[in-house]
Amino acid sequence: PFVVTENCIKCKYTDCVEVCPVDCFHEGPNFLVIDPDECIDCTLCEPECPINAIYPEDDVPAGQERFVALNKELSEVWPVITIRKDPLADAKDWEGKPDKLPLLER
Ligand code: SF4
Ligand code: F3S
Repeated sequence: PFVVTENCIKCKYTDCVEVCPVDCFHEGPNFLVIDPDECIDCTLCEPECPINAIYPEDDVPAGQERFVALNKELSEVWPVITIRKDPLADAKDWEGKPDKLPLLER
């Protein structure tokens, strides 16, 4: 499956959700995750993210391996999102910032 990684935190552009043919994106307050049990590896979402936060499970950036388990865990509790919405208000300021994981809201 594909995995949403750290750069999505505090940005949440949501361009990714509309292309998913199996509706496997789930939404939290300031981050999205992919349900690994529903993702069919179609690859459509990966180029949609303007800040490259989506990777195949086997190719997540070094140091972000924990996001694989986090996508599974949070997809079990957060609701599905299929319609694009505005990004978070200060998304631009948070693009590419390192070490955003402690800022993840549940
Ligand atoms: Fe959905 Fe395809 Fe992305 Fe998996 S790879 S989350 S099925 S759009
Ligand atoms: Fe996040 Fe990128 Fe989707 S910022 S919400 S993974 S378009």
